[in-house]
Amino acid sequence: MSMNRALKPVLAVGLCAGSLLCYAVTAQAAEGWRNPSLSPDERARLLVQELTLDERIGLLHGPMALSFPGGPPLPAGSVGGAGFIPGVPRLGIPALTETDASLGITNPGNVRPGDTATALPASIALAASFNAPLAYQGGVMIGREAAARGFNVLLAGGANLARDPRNGRNFEYLGEDPLLAGVLAGESIRGIQDQNIISTVKHFSLNGQETGRFHANSVIDEAAHRESDLLAFQIAIERGQPGSVMCAYNLVNGAYSCGNDHLLNKVLKGDWGYKGWVMSDWGAVHATDYALKGLDQQSGEQLDEQVWFGEPLKQAVAAGTIPETRLSDMAQRILRSMFAAGLFDGKPVKPEIDAAAHAAIAKQVADEGIVLLANAKGLLPLSPAVRTIAVIGGHADSGVLSGAGSSQVTATGGNARVVPVGGEGPQAMWGRQVFHPSSPLKALRAVLPDASITFNDGRYPAAAAAAAAQADIAIIFANQWMAEALDAYDLSLPQGQDALIDAVTAANPNSIVVLQTGGPVLMPWLDKVGGVIAAWYSGQKGGEAIADVLTGRVNPSGRLPQTFPASLDQFPRADLPGWGLPAKQQFDVVYDEGADVGYRLFAARDMKPLFPFGHGLSYTSFAYDKLRVRGGDTLTVSFEVSNTGAVAGKDAPQVYLADAAGTPLRRLIGFDKVELAPGEHRTVTVKADPRLLGHFDEAANKWQIKGGSYTVVVGPSAGVDSLSAKARVRAQRLKP
Ligand code: BGC
Repeated sequence: MSMNRALKPVLAVGLCAGSLLCYAVTAQAAEGWRNPSLSPDERARLLVQELTLDERIGLLHGPMALSFPGGPPLPAGSVGGAGFIPGVPRLGIPALTETDASLGITNPGNVRPGDTATALPASIALAASFNAPLAYQGGVMIGREAAARGFNVLLAGGANLARDPRNGRNFEYLGEDPLLAGVLAGESIRGIQDQNIISTVKHFSLNGQETGRFHANSVIDEAAHRESDLLAFQIAIERGQPGSVMCAYNLVNGAYSCGNDHLLNKVLKGDWGYKGWVMSDWGAVHATDYALKGLDQQSGEQLDEQVWFGEPLKQAVAAGTIPETRLSDMAQRILRSMFAAGLFDGKPVKPEIDAAAHAAIAKQVADEGIVLLANAKGLLPLSPAVRTIAVIGGHADSGVLSGAGSSQVTATGGNARVVPVGGEGPQAMWGRQVFHPSSPLKALRAVLPDASITFNDGRYPAAAAAAAAQADIAIIFANQWMAEALDAYDLSLPQGQDALIDAVTAANPNSIVVLQTGGPVLMPWLDKVGGVIAAWYSGQKGGEAIADVLTGRVNPSGRLPQTFPASLDQFPRADLPGWGLPAKQQFDVVYDEGADVGYRLFAARDMKPLFPFGHGLSYTSFAYDKLRVRGGDTLTVSFEVSNTGAVAGKDAPQVYLADAAGTPLRRLIGFDKVELAPGEHRTVTVKADPRLLGHFDEAANKWQIKGGSYTVVVGPSAGVDSLSAKARVRAQRLKP
């Protein structure tokens, strides 16, 4: 919350400190719900009493704020964007003006003609930074950009765990680990909301694949759910206090998640005491009685069969099937988050945007998110002596790839290139490969002015190989385009790019592959190439970041937030559930790996991945030493990180639990990001969230932490243990 709004009441009271009379005058100036010194809950409780039934219902549903050819104009008072909920002008209740998403402010269908925004790298790149303060800064940045356009709700905070590497939306999420995803989502949300913008966390819960997303029934054991996806949401909510939770399209254990009494009433509002409101995803409401199951607001109502939370809700209240008190609770939850975000106190501020400063944040996320996966021949960083480079493929001449769907940002400067994908159904809707205007080719030429750098588009492997044969180094850009509503069929690089890489490396073994993907891909050519970097979708400064990493201007410090498998069958579901089923047919996605998502399952089954979770190389080297582990109610772990190489760099040391009172397991319980000059040492201390030490006892509805000896390991990834120590933890039970 900004200083002016948050502190106004405090200052007003503070200035007349000690004078009761003065306090009375201040309070009197703003009666009842208008009194800013009351809590958001109290103000919402008082305000809701002043609303008529129709006014309360008016807050509970709203349309998309998009105009379609021949359709009605934008709703009055809206800002063109994802959604709109009218306010109550009589009482000065502002409308909710909603925009997507975590990667920047979108402009769907160019509804705000010509408006562009700072495009952050994909959230998976942010996750790869392992940098919580950077997530906060990114949140601040997009929060300001939302406010500058008159929005007050950001549909951000994607926190679903990457359970299936083919999931088309993994790029919008933060990897496979609940601690990493929860902390980074929470920090991003906190950054957004500090700008007087309400943020969501989404999509609650187990929106684990896009195939059949309206009909997929995610099946999971309750304890496993609490220890994985729900824990990510829980941590994000505790840290970020998002004003709203967006439920998902899919079903969870047999009930649609937006009408899921267990998820919404029992877990979220009951066990976790969540006070904000639950908004639906767009087109995820199927009945009025979802109000009884915990849903508070129907969003994007044109996409549903009916405006269930309009007239039908009113009738249900009149008929007594939905109590009026519940209706008031729904409205109150919305108002409470609006008060908490400061939407009532003072006119909304439209901040001036410092475009260069915002672009610098996008650049830093890209710099820290790019992962140097392999550098077997030591080709990287490129030697200043390199005279000729062949850049090949991936549209690297124009810009960097982005992921598609509702999170698609039109970056500052506009789209560099748009390649239509074509197709039918969801593919027709989202089927455009958008390249942000940050060309890696141009960026390389700028930082290597003395080198001769050619470009070959990579369409013909033989032609690309001929270009590579004439160069000192070949750099191949390989793309995997991912999109909302579409999953990858498998983990191969599409459109013959593996063959392209084979041909180029055969012609020139000094080849480097730059992957622009939404997650893991298979690399049948890995042993033949000189180096690989995972650049993900690197945002509007991605080309510069890639060039800086390749040349050593930036020392890579990204770490994998998702395991890169050696083959798809290392994952629990070889076939994508629901693939090829007739539309509208419900099917189960059985998550029988439970809480063992990603690297946890690799550890449990002793499988060797291509690259483990947490892996990432640097141009310097780090060593770990002096491990100390203190037990008690939780584990407090400290150790020293040293830069033992010749150049400055950032490291992301990771702390894992390897044994919990006799049970072997692998869980990330802490991480940090540290910058060290050559020869410099730093002590890192992490205190484990005790829930990560235990397991969820469904019958007792509590976290259960066993007493006993716990083994902690510290290392550079989930696959390498550098240090190990034990400590005793006390048995305890914690609230759910
Ligand atoms: C997506 C949400 C998004 C909403 C509004 C839906 O299709 O699943 O993530 O916020 O649209 O655009």
